[in-house]
Amino acid sequence: MTDTPPVPTEHTVPSLPRRHVLVGGAGAGLVAATSPMLWVPPAAAAARPRGVHLVYGDNARTSMTVSWSTPRSVAKSRLEIGPDRGLGLRVPVRSRSTKDLRTVYHHGTVEGLEPGTRYRYRITHRGAGATTGTFTTAPARAERFRFAAFGDMGVNAAAAAHVQLIDAMKPDLSFVVGDLCYADSAGGTGAGGDTSQDFAEWDRWLRQIETSAARVPWMTTVGNHEMEEGNGELGYAGYLDRFRNPRNGVKGAPVTYSFVYGNVAFIALDGNDASFEISRNEGYLGAAQDQWLERRLERFRARDDIDFIVVGFHNCMYCTNLVHASDGGNRTRWEPLFDRYSVDLVVNGHNHCYERTHPLRAGEPVVEARRGAVVDSRKGTTYLTAGGAGQAVYPTSGAPVSYVVMDGGVRVPETTHWSAVTDNQHSIGFVDVVPRRGDRPARMNLTALATDGTVIDKVTLKRGR
Ligand SMILES: [Fe+2]
Ligand SMILES: [Fe+2]
Repeated sequence: MTDTPPVPTEHTVPSLPRRHVLVGGAGAGLVAATSPMLWVPPAAAAARPRGVHLVYGDNARTSMTVSWSTPRSVAKSRLEIGPDRGLGLRVPVRSRSTKDLRTVYHHGTVEGLEPGTRYRYRITHRGAGATTGTFTTAPARAERFRFAAFGDMGVNAAAAAHVQLIDAMKPDLSFVVGDLCYADSAGGTGAGGDTSQDFAEWDRWLRQIETSAARVPWMTTVGNHEMEEGNGELGYAGYLDRFRNPRNGVKGAPVTYSFVYGNVAFIALDGNDASFEISRNEGYLGAAQDQWLERRLERFRARDDIDFIVVGFHNCMYCTNLVHASDGGNRTRWEPLFDRYSVDLVVNGHNHCYERTHPLRAGEPVVEARRGAVVDSRKGTTYLTAGGAGQAVYPTSGAPVSYVVMDGGVRVPETTHWSAVTDNQHSIGFVDVVPRRGDRPARMNLTALATDGTVIDKVTLKRGR
């Protein structure tokens, strides 16, 4: 994984010529400029790259983005990639400072890679030793793989323990459904103002997840805590400074995207656009997100090489937890599409707990799916709340009578006969995907693990032809 070079001292760091500086400001790309006013102190420039994290490029089989940060602008920021120690390919690096911190974030996207192939990468800049790592592109065809699914991590002891758990479980990717670092603790509610913001939390979070995220992609989307006050109209500028998602989402909404790994299509949605509960960004995409979602679902469902469709977004469509319960906005807009195109699994966070529904159609259970069940996911969609990745848990489920938040924030009581399993402790979801073989249907074996690795839920979703 990443090498940690010795911490440089002022005696070991070559001084930086005054002309190698970054032009700062939100939205600024990498610009070498001449400005004696922005001279970079040598000690700062020498800091090693931090918070290295991977995200698939536009095609997960052939493209990867490597991202990292430095405390300030640095000279000769460089990313090299190759199949062996020779590396061989120099990747253009785009760097940008943020509006909220002096930290500079660097992104290099490489295209034209071979599917299912392990690559080495090396990050360097003037005055610091190399940081190296490896990644593997998505395979060309279906094969067994594992992904982690969770949200609501933050920076805390439980989250750090979960990163260790994820490392031990060796998933091929993580699918992270928002509320990432909690730099803005108001979470889109407007409460707290500036006093609720600590943007250095982004860097602490990226360092916390680095052992995993520098080795396998962390495919993230936005929660209500990514709607940061002062970070652009939608509040997403801070997130987008740090994450480069595949560029195949809703036009004008780079927080949305899809990718294919083996026989699974993943779709990342912006739940904030459809939330009745926290309505700061509700409706900002008009009908565009729903139209994009339907086109994507139609296309994926028509493909013979794709068995499962997994959709991720932050707000809960079905959850009994009394803190946020279920969001009628997401439910109203997307449930008909999930039903029509037979989505297999929906991953949500937001409620800091674990919950799984029976497979549902039009909100009604179609199959019983208690712990250990094997169900045919062609019959109904399973909704997962996986919001227990680190932030303080929400201990109280309202089952059998909880509520759904409707337009205007009105809480409408409802019976929760759709709920199969609730568990209000910290947890991470892992899904083992097994391809079809002959007449044997494809399977997704979902296991939810508590922080200490104890199994708290297991279910198998199978899908034949
Ligand atoms: Fe949260
Ligand atoms: Fe949330």
